[in-house]
Amino acid sequence: MYEPSKSEIILTELIGRSLAQPYYRSFVDSLALSNHEHVLDFCSGSGIISDLILKKLSGGRLTCADVSHKWLKVLNQRLKGSNWRSVYLDSLDVESIQDAPFDKAVIHFVLHDFNRAQREKVLKLVKRSLKPGGLLIIREPSAEGHGLALFELINLLEKLKLGAYTYKQQRYPLIGETIDLRIRIKEDGL
Ligand SMILES: C[S@@+](CC[C@H](N)C(=O)[O-])C[C@H]1O[C@@H](n2cnc3c(N)ncnc32)[C@H](O)[C@@H]1O
Repeated sequence: MYEPSKSEIILTELIGRSLAQPYYRSFVDSLALSNHEHVLDFCSGSGIISDLILKKLSGGRLTCADVSHKWLKVLNQRLKGSNWRSVYLDSLDVESIQDAPFDKAVIHFVLHDFNRAQREKVLKLVKRSLKPGGLLIIREPSAEGHGLALFELINLLEKLKLGAYTYKQQRYPLIGETIDLRIRIKEDGL
């Protein structure tokens, strides 16, 4: 479905392991993970966030799904231990993601890379993969020219009626403007 170039992988790795580490750590801290939770990292990319999540889940499990074979290869080389698995998605039209249902799902810097129709499919798929009452955490860039406008995301959430949500906009050094949404998944189906 999508594959990154070699230079994208190298640059992501270089920045992710150095300058962006404080940002990634604070993002994962903000997930308030409990040790026993079952978590989905949707489009986990290089796995820099997945690795930090996994370190907080000694009694839980992590599933990393991606639409890219190359990114999954990078992730598989990065993550250690046995309480995680990676899943290749060749389509967004599947009923749910392998290993569902999850307590929490993370979508970090992903939706803006998909077109509108795909974004809806992603959110419906992740919603179906979460437990009723589960938490969906979305963080996206929101700079003009690279990212999503707040109203676009809110419109999507309202249209899909995923559940009650809170949001905040924040600017981070190096990362830029972001939107952070936390959605408590409704008890009934979509
Ligand atoms: C910017 S990376 C984010 C990875 C990870 N969530 C993180 O924040 O480190 C984007 C992710 O979306 C997926 N993706 C899907 N369609 C894409 C597209 N058209 N362009 C870039 N990435 C795309 C990639 O496979 C990758 O996992």
